[in-house]
Amino acid sequence: MLPLPNCKELMKELMKELTPRLAAPVPTTSNMLPTSMLMLSGSASGYVVGSAGLPAPSVARAGAVSMMADRPYLIAGNWKMNTVLSEAKELAKEVADAAAKSADNTGVAVCVPFPFLTAVGDILGDKVALGAQDCYYEDSGAYTAAVSTSMLKSVGTTYVLAGHSERRATFGDTDADINKKVLKILGEGMKCILCIGELKEERESGETFNVCDTQLTEGLKGVSAEMMKDIVIAYEPVWAIGTGLTATPEVAQETHAYIRSWFKENYDEKVADAVIIQYGGSVNDKNVDELMGCADIDGALVGGASLKGDSFSAIINFKQ
Ligand code: 13P
Repeated sequence: MLPLPNCKELMKELMKELTPRLAAPVPTTSNMLPTSMLMLSGSASGYVVGSAGLPAPSVARAGAVSMMADRPYLIAGNWKMNTVLSEAKELAKEVADAAAKSADNTGVAVCVPFPFLTAVGDILGDKVALGAQDCYYEDSGAYTAAVSTSMLKSVGTTYVLAGHSERRATFGDTDADINKKVLKILGEGMKCILCIGELKEERESGETFNVCDTQLTEGLKGVSAEMMKDIVIAYEPVWAIGTGLTATPEVAQETHAYIRSWFKENYDEKVADAVIIQYGGSVNDKNVDELMGCADIDGALVGGASLKGDSFSAIINFKQ
């Protein structure tokens, strides 16, 4: 008997044929969009995919640099230095309830303050992964106030952020520190969300892609293609964090496409196709649908809006 045709493979072949005609050109630093392309949260209007001027479906993930549109989404909340124990537990319950209704292709995680990891982990249930916001790269010893990866693992942590811009700016984490953390997190058997993104001045001077290149190159030193299965990238333009300003879907997609092309160049096509690239920076329940509709945006890292059960619930259950 002849083997049944594999639909996924057939689709991939078809996409290979069609992609050169559908895909937006991989952007270069010379065609960066100006800051005037930014939008105030919630004021997103219709957009076109890349410069091909194709009418963009609001949620379909067309026009990808990548050929594989079946990457799952990952929506993660970053609670930062917020909540006390009672609030953390209440919020965890709301997130667990909201995630129970979420689509099968959408993973959910919350990165909570260290003191609440255990209590929150007990409430989250099966559908929501527990995340931490940072770690230290040494095993153990005289490092007052530091939290090791083995500590995090022992309380059920799945995801750990590394390189959040607030750790870089306020606590002085260098790319070399971040790289040590990344390797330690993976070595411990957890997943790492590596955060990258440019400052406002860097965007304005056309440095966005160079900044991403440096942060990826330095942050991922020693991370093999095989290890990449445990890495998620969060692209968070610093000017969009906590400001109410977010990138338009078009501007965000442009940088996400660059990041995916970076993986193709520095790893291989398989890694580039599979890597989850989240967008972060003033994501809310009003702008999430359009952002998630972009071909190379595979989820969100959400700050402020993850602290309110109803808005995070709407974000988790974005329209697709
Ligand atoms: P906001 O969603 O509050 O802008 O924060 C984004 C962020 O820093 C998530 O890590």
